[in-house]
Amino acid sequence: PSGCKLIGSGSAVPSLLISNDDLAKIVDTNDEWIASRTSIRNRRVVSGKDSLVGLAVEAATKALEMAEVLPQDVDLVLMCTSTPDDLFGAAPQIQKALGCTKNPLAYDITAACSGFVLGLVSAACHIRGGGFKNVLVIGADSLSRFVDWTDRGSCILFGDAAAAVVVQACDIEDDGLFSFDVHSDGDGRRHLNASIKDSQTNGALSSDGSVLADFPPKQASYSCIQMNGKEVFRFAVKSVPQSIESALQKAGLPASSIDWLLLHQANQRIIDSVATRLQFPPERVISNLANYGNTSAASIPLALDEAVRSGKVKPGHTIAASGFGAGLTWGSAIIRW
Ligand code: ACO
Repeated sequence: PSGCKLIGSGSAVPSLLISNDDLAKIVDTNDEWIASRTSIRNRRVVSGKDSLVGLAVEAATKALEMAEVLPQDVDLVLMCTSTPDDLFGAAPQIQKALGCTKNPLAYDITAACSGFVLGLVSAACHIRGGGFKNVLVIGADSLSRFVDWTDRGSCILFGDAAAAVVVQACDIEDDGLFSFDVHSDGDGRRHLNASIKDSQTNGALSSDGSVLADFPPKQASYSCIQMNGKEVFRFAVKSVPQSIESALQKAGLPASSIDWLLLHQANQRIIDSVATRLQFPPERVISNLANYGNTSAASIPLALDEAVRSGKVKPGHTIAASGFGAGLTWGSAIIRW
């Protein structure tokens, strides 16, 4: 079987910066409350001509440049997103815009804030079992489009971003995707969702003149993000340490041998709680939550890209990464940069 290694990363954020003080102008909140409960200070939000595909293409282009892989040599594009520009999927548009001309496979993965970890799992499966060579895993979300901007309990949390990594097939001795541990629990959906609204029918007439009550359906639309913050918090601090411990066990590595803990950036208190539970000292925990808020599927690769480009994460370092969120879904990956 083939090994898989991470050989490049890139990221892109929209230019519009919304600070906590900006939010205090539209909902009853303040910088002190938001920063003390979450550590978030700023977030970026799409505006004007921004598109998620545009951000994803920018992030993927930077990742390919770092990896020194040409777009035409990419044979798989995985777009991990729950907020695609096109309901039918954004990955093929990204493939086209990047110039991946050798007719690669491109598809979307919907798993909210766990999307990127599940994208890594899919990349590994395609490389190990399907003979793929160069896989772009993109995490990108624009939850600002689905936030209830009158709900101070949730609108303060989210930001928009895209980030990408290149995963390349390699000899098994160089394998850098050591292990995964992934889960889902549909029961927890009641704590966090952005559901399709009940469809109401137009009441069309059938051929005998009677009203067809259920046909045709009205055009669908989605509700804003509905979240029980306390329950999501509880779920995260319980499930994430267990998942990382399980992934470490599968990899045969103790937590003390891991260079960096890189969690989905949702709330600093969640990150701190998981780090304490796993006995990771603060200096080995990656966090960029203050600048971007919760960017859903983008948050892990965005923080990874910043840490790589700033020289924090160096070649050969091991990382315990873990995503968690709506679905509910959660999962961890033990990887080497
Ligand atoms: N500003 C000021 N006050 C606020 C705000 C705000 N933005 N939001 C809530 N409050 C008030 C509440 O109304 C409440 O007031 P009350 O005591 O008078 O009723 C008080 O502050 C406490 O509210 P709680 O909801 O109990 O605050 P908590 O400490 O739980 O923090 C938070 C809320 C930050 C949302 C936290 O629960 C959290 O981060 N949960 C995890 C959420 C999360 O990560 N979601 C994303 C998952 S990823 C995905 O897949 C999308």
